[in-house]
Amino acid sequence: MPKIHILPTGQVIDAQEGETVLEAALRQGVHIQHACGGFCACTTCHCLVEPLKDLCFLSEMDDEEADRLERVSGGVLPNSRLACQAKVLGDVQIRVLNFEHH
Ligand code: FES
Repeated sequence: MPKIHILPTGQVIDAQEGETVLEAALRQGVHIQHACGGFCACTTCHCLVEPLKDLCFLSEMDDEEADRLERVSGGVLPNSRLACQAKVLGDVQIRVLNFEHH
């Protein structure tokens, strides 16, 4: 079962193969923001994949995600992904930029 290492908290969570980063995180109490509900319609679930080589352990980015990421305020980086679109294929480390505050 692939593992997701969460930065900056240092949590390690399990992901079922093919599940999105967001789905795995929410299921295990890591509250990544997801204003649109995971439909690639906001950018609050914007995450960074660190190190960059870990990108290969996520599903490829489709055009919809790429278009959406272009609108991230502050700019998109080479290791930017949307947690609701990136499916987990292997162990990966993710830096969460926006946590939900309760
Ligand atoms: S939750 Fe809105 S784009 Fe991912």
